[in-house]
Formats: sequence, C-alpha cells, structure tokens
Amino acid sequence: MTGELSPIDKAKFVAARRAVDFVEDGMRVGLGTGSTAAWMVRCLGELVRDEGLRIKGVPTSTRTAQLAREVGIDVVSLDEAKWLDLTIDGADEFDADLCLIKGGGGALLQEKIVATASDQMIVIADVAKEVGQLGGFPLPVEVIPFGWQTTKALIEETLVSVDVLGRDTSLRMNRDAPFVTDEGNYIVDLHLHRIGNPRQLALILNQIPGVVENGLFIDICDIVVIGHGDGRVEVRDINQGTVEEERIDLLENDNLFADM
Ligand code: 5RP
Repeated sequence: MTGELSPIDKAKFVAARRAVDFVEDGMRVGLGTGSTAAWMVRCLGELVRDEGLRIKGVPTSTRTAQLAREVGIDVVSLDEAKWLDLTIDGADEFDADLCLIKGGGGALLQEKIVATASDQMIVIADVAKEVGQLGGFPLPVEVIPFGWQTTKALIEETLVSVDVLGRDTSLRMNRDAPFVTDEGNYIVDLHLHRIGNPRQLALILNQIPGVVENGLFIDICDIVVIGHGDGRVEVRDINQGTVEEERIDLLENDNLFADM
C-alpha cells in the first residue's frame, strides 16, 4: 500500500513516524493540524493501541480531535492538561532559525496557543517546506468578522512600512463564503513573497485591532524533523545545535496503511 503513496506523502509520513519517538509514556502532547500532523496522530494511535502508550492528547482543531479519538488517543482540553510536555505539528514554511509560517489549514490560533504552552515544539515537514526566507507561502492572519474589511485595510496600510516584497491581501474563502475558523473568525492571507523581518512583522500585525493572531511562529519551534520521499529523515535541534540523519523503512504491511 505504501507504494501508492506519493513521494510527498511518504516524506510527511516518515517525518511523523520519526517524531513520535520523542513521545514518552505519561506525556501530555499537543496534536497539530494538517496532513503531516494527521500522519503523526495515526502513528501515535498505533503506539497507544499496540504498545500500550499512555498519553493525553490536546488537539489543535476539531478535525484533529476527531481523528485522535478515532485512533484511540485520550483527548483532553488544554485547560484540563494545563501545560504540555511536547507539541508536534506541521508547518507551511520553516527557515534556518526554525521560524515558521503556519495556518495553511486555518488552525493557527489554537496551534500557537498549544505550542506556546508546551515545553517543546517539534515541527514535522517534508523537505519542500524549508526556505531561505519566509514569505513564499501566503501568511495567514486570523481576524474577527466584525469590521473585517476595515481590519484588512489597516493590515494593508501597515504593510507599507515593513520590509516585504508583495503587499496583496485576500480574504480566505470556502467556496462562495468566507472560510470560518474553529473560533468563528476569518482569515486574511498576506501575499508577501519575502518577509525581511519576521519577528518585527509578527509583533506589528498583532497590534492591529481586529487581528486575533498571525501565522508567524517565532522562537516557538525547538526541533524540526524533515522527511524525504525516499525514507530519509533529518532531525535538527536548534537548542542543541545538532543534526541527525537516518532512514525509515516503509513497510508494505504497515497497519497504518491498512484502511487507506
Ligand atoms: C494548519 C497548519 C499546518 O500545519 C500546515 O498548513 C501544514 O499542513 P500540511 O502538513 O498539510 O502540509 O498550520 O493550520
């Protein structure tokens, strides 16, 4: 069955598979959102089912909560868990400092709250997510629906004075209606192409009334696990300054692929 996975899905899978090695019995774990994070949730479910791993999982979206329950993870809220040992999540882009753009799946608010409430954040990504400079992927900004057009205009005005290459913005849509987040907010995507100073931009955006949060994750991620389509994985730890490489065999009879 794994033979039918595309190279990109294999890359996401091996990154997820390697990242769950960091999860220990008894941990409270933040569960990210997106296709890579979904592999991670399935891998954790397998460990719970087959190896008796006992964890409490805090999902970052209703989608992830549903999947986590389906695979047998004990799901609790962040307020029940209070603080987390570890969060594992995907990203849309990451740079050499492990600054991230997140929110392609629209879950950036819960993702940032959960990752910030964790001792450690591990990002799992296929190799295509690594960039020299952030901004190729549109930066998601979550805004409240009230006065969203005014908020969008204020964001555009703010962009004039920051070091970015493009300044187009668009309201994220879901067919004919605005895309609505789990918190009932909208997302404005910023098409910046290159972000000269992500740290400054993250702070400035959050000063605008109506902006709830932006998708720049600065100084939050500790480790990135990068997957390749041929099974190679690279683990970079920004705090330790270490880089490790290994290969993960994709077993044709892997239980995870059985119902796909
Ligand atoms: C969701 C996210 C995701 O982590 C990000 O979009 C990456 O998704 P995928 O793993 O599907 O490429 O930030 O809000």
